[in-house]
Amino acid sequence: MAFNLKGRSLLTLKDFTAEEIRLLLDVSHQVKREKKSGNLQRRFLGKTLALLFEKRSTRTRCAFETAFGEEGGYPVFLSGDDIQLGAKESIEDTARVLGRMFDCIQFRGYKHETVEKLAEYSGVPVYNGLTDTFHPTQILADLMTVEEEFGSLKGVKIVFVGDGRNNVANSLLIGCSKTGADFTVVAPEKLFPSDELLNLSREYASYSGSKIDITDSIESGVKDAQVIYTDVWVSMGEEKKQKERYELLKPYQVNKSLMEKTGRKETIFMHCLPAVKGNEASFDVIEGKASRVWDEAENRKHTIKAIILATI
Ligand code: CP
Ligand code: NVA
Repeated sequence: MAFNLKGRSLLTLKDFTAEEIRLLLDVSHQVKREKKSGNLQRRFLGKTLALLFEKRSTRTRCAFETAFGEEGGYPVFLSGDDIQLGAKESIEDTARVLGRMFDCIQFRGYKHETVEKLAEYSGVPVYNGLTDTFHPTQILADLMTVEEEFGSLKGVKIVFVGDGRNNVANSLLIGCSKTGADFTVVAPEKLFPSDELLNLSREYASYSGSKIDITDSIESGVKDAQVIYTDVWVSMGEEKKQKERYELLKPYQVNKSLMEKTGRKETIFMHCLPAVKGNEASFDVIEGKASRVWDEAENRKHTIKAIILATI
Protein backbone atom coordinates (compact mmCIF):
# COMPACT_ATOMS: atom_id res chain seq x y z
CA MET A 1 0.00 0.00 0.00
CA ALA A 2 1.42 3.35 -1.05
CA PHE A 3 0.31 5.25 2.04
CA ASN A 4 0.83 4.75 5.70
CA LEU A 5 -2.17 4.85 7.98
CA LYS A 6 -0.78 2.13 10.24
CA GLY A 7 -1.83 2.47 13.85
CA ARG A 8 -4.52 5.07 13.10
CA SER A 9 -8.00 4.98 14.59
CA LEU A 10 -11.17 6.03 12.80
CA LEU A 11 -13.39 7.83 15.30
CA THR A 12 -14.86 10.38 12.89
CA LEU A 13 -13.98 11.34 9.32
CA LYS A 14 -12.52 14.55 10.78
CA ASP A 15 -9.50 12.35 11.65
CA PHE A 16 -8.63 11.79 7.97
CA THR A 17 -7.56 14.24 5.28
CA ALA A 18 -9.31 14.34 1.93
CA GLU A 19 -6.33 12.49 0.42
CA GLU A 20 -6.51 9.78 3.07
CA ILE A 21 -10.24 9.33 2.48
CA ARG A 22 -9.50 9.11 -1.26
CA LEU A 23 -6.98 6.36 -0.60
CA LEU A 24 -9.38 4.44 1.64
CA LEU A 25 -11.97 4.59 -1.13
CA ASP A 26 -9.45 3.40 -3.71
CA VAL A 27 -8.58 0.42 -1.52
CA SER A 28 -12.30 -0.26 -1.01
CA HIS A 29 -12.87 -0.47 -4.78
CA GLN A 30 -9.79 -2.70 -5.07
CA VAL A 31 -10.89 -5.18 -2.37
CA LYS A 32 -14.38 -5.31 -3.89
CA ARG A 33 -12.88 -6.21 -7.28
CA GLU A 34 -10.72 -8.87 -5.61
CA LYS A 35 -13.73 -10.37 -3.88
CA LYS A 36 -15.81 -10.40 -7.08
CA SER A 37 -13.04 -12.11 -9.02
CA GLY A 38 -12.60 -14.80 -6.35
CA ASN A 39 -9.12 -13.60 -5.47
CA LEU A 40 -9.00 -14.72 -1.84
CA GLN A 41 -6.26 -13.22 0.30
CA ARG A 42 -5.16 -14.02 3.87
CA ARG A 43 -4.02 -10.60 4.97
CA PHE A 44 -5.42 -10.82 8.51
CA LEU A 45 -3.95 -14.23 9.33
CA GLY A 46 -2.94 -14.34 13.00
CA LYS A 47 -4.71 -11.04 13.75
CA THR A 48 -7.47 -10.47 16.27
CA LEU A 49 -10.33 -7.95 16.33
CA ALA A 50 -12.53 -7.15 19.35
CA LEU A 51 -16.10 -6.20 18.41
CA LEU A 52 -17.74 -4.26 21.23
CA PHE A 53 -21.47 -3.64 20.86
CA GLU A 54 -23.63 -1.69 23.33
CA LYS A 55 -26.27 -1.21 20.60
CA ARG A 56 -27.69 -3.69 18.13
CA SER A 57 -26.31 -4.15 14.62
CA THR A 58 -26.74 -6.30 11.53
CA ARG A 59 -24.63 -4.67 8.82
CA THR A 60 -21.77 -3.29 10.87
CA ARG A 61 -21.25 -6.44 12.88
CA CYS A 62 -21.51 -8.73 9.85
CA ALA A 63 -19.28 -6.48 7.74
CA PHE A 64 -16.52 -6.51 10.37
CA GLU A 65 -16.83 -10.23 11.09
CA THR A 66 -16.89 -11.40 7.48
CA ALA A 67 -14.29 -8.93 6.17
CA PHE A 68 -11.88 -9.89 8.94
CA GLY A 69 -12.66 -13.60 9.08
CA GLU A 70 -12.45 -14.32 5.35
CA GLU A 71 -8.88 -13.00 5.31
CA GLY A 72 -7.85 -15.34 8.11
CA GLY A 73 -8.40 -12.98 11.07
CA TYR A 74 -10.14 -13.87 14.31
CA PRO A 75 -13.01 -11.54 15.29
CA VAL A 76 -14.42 -11.79 18.83
CA PHE A 77 -17.92 -10.44 19.46
CA LEU A 78 -18.47 -8.88 22.90
CA SER A 79 -21.85 -7.42 23.76
CA GLY A 80 -22.47 -4.98 26.59
CA ASP A 81 -23.77 -7.88 28.66
CA ASP A 82 -20.54 -9.86 28.26
CA ILE A 83 -17.81 -7.52 29.39
CA GLN A 84 -17.10 -4.99 32.12
CA LEU A 85 -16.81 -1.91 29.91
CA GLY A 86 -17.79 0.96 32.16
CA ALA A 87 -19.76 -1.32 34.48
CA LYS A 88 -17.41 -3.01 36.94
CA GLU A 89 -14.29 -1.65 35.33
CA SER A 90 -13.44 1.75 33.91
CA ILE A 91 -13.33 2.15 30.14
CA GLU A 92 -9.67 3.11 30.43
CA ASP A 93 -8.78 -0.18 32.16
CA THR A 94 -10.81 -2.33 29.77
CA ALA A 95 -9.13 -0.52 26.87
CA ARG A 96 -5.66 -1.27 28.24
CA VAL A 97 -6.47 -4.96 28.66
CA LEU A 98 -8.03 -5.29 25.19
CA GLY A 99 -5.03 -3.53 23.71
CA ARG A 100 -2.78 -6.27 25.11
CA MET A 101 -4.81 -9.03 23.44
CA PHE A 102 -6.22 -7.61 20.22
CA ASP A 103 -4.72 -6.00 17.16
CA CYS A 104 -7.72 -3.69 16.72
CA ILE A 105 -11.06 -2.83 18.30
CA GLN A 106 -14.45 -1.85 16.94
CA PHE A 107 -16.90 -0.05 19.22
CA ARG A 108 -20.60 0.62 18.70
CA GLY A 109 -22.47 2.36 21.46
CA TYR A 110 -23.89 5.47 23.00
CA LYS A 111 -21.36 8.06 24.11
CA HIS A 112 -18.78 9.22 21.61
CA GLU A 113 -16.47 9.79 24.55
CA THR A 114 -16.29 6.01 25.10
CA VAL A 115 -14.77 5.33 21.69
CA GLU A 116 -12.35 8.21 22.24
CA LYS A 117 -11.20 6.70 25.53
CA LEU A 118 -10.81 3.27 23.95
CA ALA A 119 -8.54 4.79 21.31
CA GLU A 120 -6.57 6.77 23.83
CA TYR A 121 -5.90 3.91 26.24
CA SER A 122 -5.80 0.72 24.15
CA GLY A 123 -2.77 1.56 22.02
CA VAL A 124 -4.30 -0.20 18.97
CA PRO A 125 -6.48 1.13 16.11
CA VAL A 126 -10.08 1.69 17.21
CA TYR A 127 -12.94 1.95 14.73
CA ASN A 128 -16.17 3.77 15.53
CA GLY A 129 -18.97 1.48 14.37
CA LEU A 130 -21.56 4.13 15.43
CA THR A 131 -22.00 6.38 18.43
CA ASP A 132 -24.81 8.80 19.24
CA THR A 133 -22.89 11.46 17.32
CA PHE A 134 -21.07 9.86 14.38
CA HIS A 135 -21.12 6.86 12.03
CA PRO A 136 -17.97 7.22 9.91
CA THR A 137 -17.66 3.69 8.49
CA GLN A 138 -21.18 4.04 7.07
CA ILE A 139 -20.24 7.17 5.19
CA LEU A 140 -17.24 5.56 3.49
CA ALA A 141 -19.62 2.93 2.10
CA ASP A 142 -22.01 5.68 1.01
CA LEU A 143 -19.27 7.61 -0.78
CA MET A 144 -18.14 4.40 -2.48
CA THR A 145 -21.71 3.73 -3.65
CA VAL A 146 -22.01 7.27 -5.05
CA GLU A 147 -18.73 6.82 -6.92
CA GLU A 148 -19.92 3.54 -8.41
CA GLU A 149 -23.00 5.32 -9.68
CA PHE A 150 -21.60 8.63 -10.89
CA GLY A 151 -17.89 7.85 -11.35
CA SER A 152 -16.96 10.73 -9.03
CA LEU A 153 -17.94 12.61 -5.88
CA LYS A 154 -17.04 16.11 -7.03
CA GLY A 155 -20.12 18.20 -7.58
CA VAL A 156 -22.59 15.33 -7.12
CA LYS A 157 -25.60 16.76 -5.28
CA ILE A 158 -26.45 14.59 -2.26
CA VAL A 159 -29.50 15.62 -0.22
CA PHE A 160 -30.20 14.20 3.22
CA VAL A 161 -33.88 14.43 4.14
CA GLY A 162 -35.03 13.80 7.73
CA ASP A 163 -33.34 13.91 11.13
CA GLY A 164 -30.57 16.32 10.16
CA ARG A 165 -28.73 16.15 13.49
CA ASN A 166 -28.30 12.41 13.86
CA ASN A 167 -25.07 10.41 13.61
CA VAL A 168 -25.51 9.62 9.91
CA ALA A 169 -26.35 13.19 8.84
CA ASN A 170 -23.45 14.50 10.94
CA SER A 171 -20.99 12.13 9.33
CA LEU A 172 -22.31 12.80 5.83
CA LEU A 173 -21.67 16.50 6.42
CA ILE A 174 -18.03 15.77 7.17
CA GLY A 175 -17.56 13.14 4.45
CA CYS A 176 -19.17 15.17 1.67
CA SER A 177 -17.55 18.47 2.55
CA LYS A 178 -14.13 16.82 2.66
CA THR A 179 -14.49 15.02 -0.65
CA GLY A 180 -16.12 17.72 -2.78
CA ALA A 181 -19.65 16.30 -2.98
CA ASP A 182 -22.38 18.94 -2.66
CA PHE A 183 -24.46 18.28 0.43
CA THR A 184 -27.82 19.67 1.48
CA VAL A 185 -29.68 18.90 4.68
CA VAL A 186 -33.46 19.15 4.37
CA ALA A 187 -34.98 18.99 7.86
CA PRO A 188 -37.33 20.80 10.19
CA GLU A 189 -35.43 23.57 11.94
CA LYS A 190 -35.54 21.77 15.27
CA LEU A 191 -33.51 18.97 13.71
CA PHE A 192 -30.83 21.01 11.99
CA PRO A 193 -27.21 19.95 12.58
CA SER A 194 -25.23 21.99 15.13
CA ASP A 195 -23.71 25.31 14.09
CA GLU A 196 -20.33 23.99 15.16
CA LEU A 197 -20.49 21.08 12.73
CA LEU A 198 -21.92 23.24 9.97
CA ASN A 199 -19.11 25.75 10.35
CA LEU A 200 -16.52 22.99 10.32
CA SER A 201 -17.98 21.42 7.19
CA ARG A 202 -18.09 24.83 5.48
CA GLU A 203 -14.42 25.20 6.25
CA TYR A 204 -13.70 21.78 4.68
CA ALA A 205 -15.88 22.79 1.73
CA SER A 206 -13.81 25.91 1.16
CA TYR A 207 -10.89 23.58 0.31
CA SER A 208 -12.76 20.82 -1.54
CA GLY A 209 -15.14 23.06 -3.52
CA SER A 210 -18.29 21.36 -2.25
CA LYS A 211 -21.47 23.36 -1.62
CA ILE A 212 -23.11 22.93 1.80
CA ASP A 213 -26.73 23.97 2.27
CA ILE A 214 -29.35 23.64 4.93
CA THR A 215 -33.06 24.29 4.63
CA ASP A 216 -36.45 23.24 5.96
CA SER A 217 -37.96 23.55 2.48
CA ILE A 218 -38.35 20.26 0.63
CA GLU A 219 -39.05 21.99 -2.70
CA SER A 220 -35.91 24.10 -2.84
CA GLY A 221 -33.71 21.57 -1.00
CA VAL A 222 -34.25 18.52 -3.17
CA LYS A 223 -34.26 20.35 -6.51
CA ASP A 224 -31.65 18.86 -8.87
CA ALA A 225 -30.59 16.25 -6.29
CA GLN A 226 -28.74 13.28 -7.78
CA VAL A 227 -28.94 11.38 -4.51
CA ILE A 228 -31.75 11.46 -1.97
CA TYR A 229 -30.61 9.97 1.34
CA THR A 230 -32.60 9.35 4.47
CA ASP A 231 -32.34 7.57 7.82
CA VAL A 232 -34.73 6.51 10.58
CA TRP A 233 -36.73 9.20 12.37
CA VAL A 234 -35.81 7.76 15.76
CA SER A 235 -32.25 6.59 16.25
CA MET A 236 -31.20 3.90 18.71
CA GLY A 237 -31.29 5.25 22.25
CA GLU A 238 -33.80 8.02 21.42
CA GLU A 239 -36.95 5.91 21.66
CA LYS A 240 -38.56 8.34 24.10
CA LYS A 241 -38.61 10.98 21.37
CA GLN A 242 -40.73 8.88 19.04
CA LYS A 243 -43.97 10.88 19.20
CA GLU A 244 -42.25 14.24 18.74
CA ARG A 245 -40.14 12.95 15.85
CA TYR A 246 -43.07 11.45 14.01
CA GLU A 247 -44.89 14.77 14.18
CA LEU A 248 -41.87 16.75 13.03
CA LEU A 249 -40.79 14.39 10.27
CA LYS A 250 -44.01 13.14 8.71
CA PRO A 251 -43.97 15.87 6.04
CA TYR A 252 -40.40 14.85 5.18
CA GLN A 253 -41.12 11.27 4.14
CA VAL A 254 -39.18 10.29 1.02
CA ASN A 255 -41.88 9.10 -1.37
CA LYS A 256 -42.64 9.23 -5.09
CA SER A 257 -43.79 12.84 -4.90
CA LEU A 258 -40.60 13.95 -3.11
CA MET A 259 -38.43 12.05 -5.60
CA GLU A 260 -40.24 13.84 -8.45
CA LYS A 261 -39.48 17.22 -6.89
CA THR A 262 -35.80 16.68 -7.75
CA GLY A 263 -36.76 17.35 -11.36
CA ARG A 264 -34.45 14.54 -12.46
CA LYS A 265 -35.36 11.08 -13.66
CA GLU A 266 -32.09 9.38 -12.73
CA THR A 267 -31.93 10.43 -9.05
CA ILE A 268 -30.96 7.52 -6.81
CA PHE A 269 -32.23 6.73 -3.33
CA MET A 270 -29.95 5.78 -0.45
CA HIS A 271 -30.50 4.76 3.18
CA CYS A 272 -27.98 3.43 5.69
CA LEU A 273 -30.56 0.85 6.87
CA PRO A 274 -32.26 -0.57 8.86
CA ALA A 275 -35.31 1.23 7.44
CA VAL A 276 -38.81 1.65 8.80
CA LYS A 277 -40.72 1.35 5.53
CA GLY A 278 -43.69 3.69 5.50
CA ASN A 279 -42.01 6.18 7.85
CA GLU A 280 -38.89 7.91 6.55
CA ALA A 281 -39.31 6.34 3.11
CA SER A 282 -42.25 4.79 1.34
CA PHE A 283 -42.20 1.13 0.43
CA ASP A 284 -42.21 1.85 -3.32
CA VAL A 285 -39.13 4.10 -3.11
CA ILE A 286 -37.04 1.62 -1.08
CA GLU A 287 -38.09 -1.25 -3.33
CA GLY A 288 -38.09 0.79 -6.54
CA LYS A 289 -35.53 1.04 -9.31
CA ALA A 290 -33.91 4.20 -7.93
CA SER A 291 -32.95 2.40 -4.73
CA ARG A 292 -29.29 1.54 -4.15
CA VAL A 293 -29.70 0.45 -0.54
CA TRP A 294 -28.48 -3.13 -1.04
CA ASP A 295 -25.31 -2.05 -2.86
CA GLU A 296 -24.75 0.45 -0.06
CA ALA A 297 -25.14 -2.31 2.54
CA GLU A 298 -22.71 -4.59 0.68
CA ASN A 299 -20.19 -1.78 0.43
CA ARG A 300 -20.04 -1.63 4.23
CA LYS A 301 -17.99 -4.80 4.05
CA HIS A 302 -15.54 -3.66 1.38
CA THR A 303 -14.93 -0.27 3.00
CA ILE A 304 -14.48 -1.81 6.45
CA LYS A 305 -11.97 -4.29 5.02
CA ALA A 306 -10.11 -1.36 3.47
CA ILE A 307 -10.00 0.55 6.76
CA ILE A 308 -8.60 -2.43 8.66
CA LEU A 309 -6.11 -3.24 5.90
CA ALA A 310 -4.83 0.31 5.95
CA THR A 311 -4.52 0.63 9.71
CA ILE A 312 -3.22 -2.66 11.17
N1 CP B 1 -26.21 0.83 8.70
C1 CP B 1 -25.87 0.18 9.83
O1 CP B 1 -25.00 0.59 10.60
O2 CP B 1 -26.57 -0.97 10.03
P1 CP B 1 -26.54 -1.85 11.36
O3 CP B 1 -27.19 -1.02 12.45
O4 CP B 1 -27.33 -3.07 11.00
O5 CP B 1 -25.12 -2.17 11.70
N1 NVA C 1 -29.27 6.84 12.98
C1 NVA C 1 -29.41 5.43 13.13
C2 NVA C 1 -28.43 4.72 12.27
C3 NVA C 1 -28.51 3.22 12.30
C4 NVA C 1 -27.46 2.57 11.44
C5 NVA C 1 -29.27 5.04 14.58
O1 NVA C 1 -28.37 5.57 15.24
O2 NVA C 1 -30.05 4.24 15.07
